[in-house]
Amino acid sequence: MSILVTGGAGFIGANFVLDWLAQHEEPVINLDKLTYAGNLENLASLQGDARHIFVHGDIGDSVLVSGLLTKHRPRAVINFAAESHVDRSIHGPREFIQTNIVGTFSLLESVRAHWEGLTGDTKACFRFLHVSTDEVYGSLRADAPAFSETNRYEPNSPYSASKAAGDHLVRAYHHTYDFPVLTTNCSNNYGPYHFPEKLIPLCILNALAGKPLPIYGDGRQIRDWLYVKDHCSAIRQVLEAGRVGETYNIGGRNELTNLEVVHTLCQLLDELAPPATRSLHFTSYRSLITFVKDRPGHDRRYAINASKLEGELGWKPQETFETGLTKTVLWYLENQSWITNVTSGAYRNWISRQYGT
Ligand code: NAD
Ligand code: DAU
Repeated sequence: MSILVTGGAGFIGANFVLDWLAQHEEPVINLDKLTYAGNLENLASLQGDARHIFVHGDIGDSVLVSGLLTKHRPRAVINFAAESHVDRSIHGPREFIQTNIVGTFSLLESVRAHWEGLTGDTKACFRFLHVSTDEVYGSLRADAPAFSETNRYEPNSPYSASKAAGDHLVRAYHHTYDFPVLTTNCSNNYGPYHFPEKLIPLCILNALAGKPLPIYGDGRQIRDWLYVKDHCSAIRQVLEAGRVGETYNIGGRNELTNLEVVHTLCQLLDELAPPATRSLHFTSYRSLITFVKDRPGHDRRYAINASKLEGELGWKPQETFETGLTKTVLWYLENQSWITNVTSGAYRNWISRQYGT
């Protein structure tokens, strides 16, 4: 038995693969295109581990995907692969349409063809789990209830629109072909291996370097934060016990404004890495907070109602925002070489450095 993970060299995918192999003997076939967001260094601790089979490739390459399915006969496919950064989708939406819509479609076609050839229990137990986002539901008013699975899709950015389209295809494959899908829609993640273009890792790295902490607009936009390992545990639970064809919202009930997030981060950094110890001539990292031009079409508020997942599957997050953020800051402080390689771009040379190819 094995599972096929796509996008497993990215932030959440890599955390998922690491956690999976820490808890299971079951091998992981990890298919990743290694875009700028894919970093094999995230998986360095698995070097030499026969349970991790890395394949460099695109979910849209149907010959490659069909070959992997025939060769490894995984019991499930978990699709993390995506273009994931809202700001990049505003500057250049094409790759988002290509991977998040066309790529998802191609992956669905390849996996459906494979599944149709299965028989008996192997076919009955097969699952396709599609990892999606709360952004497909659009922006909430301040007094509106948190997103539940029945909320209408109202995506507002090219990123969220492309994820919404992918979700619709997944849903349609279940209704039309009985293809055994599960979809998860999660809120904002943070934690180890987060690429430093997203708010929390960007602010940690900028603060430690004494650079401005850029806050879009008035900084009062609200996100609902979840520690990445809690997202991974929810996915494992949905994979094992989720009802086929259902969607499950995942969130940590941690609604915070961006300003609150950055203030908490600065307070933690002041304690764990006081500016003076880094030759920085200010008393608090807060002094670096800088308001900048807002993101076009910036969604004001996201919030997740995870009661379906909690009630049906008994899932609960392990971390509060404070404990999760402390772990995150400590991870960045202890992994200077990862930071150096990511910020210098040297991580892109990891494969040739590490494997000599
Ligand atoms: P990420 O950008 O860090 O990683 C994406 C990974 O997918 C990278 O390793 C990249 O190389 C790979 N990839 C991209 N295009 C590919 C393709 N065509 N074929 C194969 N691999 C490809 O993203 P992330 O933050 O880890 O997000 C993973 C998934 O979770 C995405 O689907 C995203 O929409 C979803 N999600 C993310 C968050 C979050 O807060 N980061 C929250 C909810 C849902
Ligand atoms: O909600 C889930 C989504 O969370 C995922 O689907 C996306 O893949 C993931 O990237 C994330 O999207 P956001 O746009 O919410 O994440 P980001 O870290 O880019 O921004 C978080 C908030 O902080 C958002 O309101 C924009 C703001 N921000 C971001 C950056 C990078 C700033 O104020 N300044 C910044 O420099």
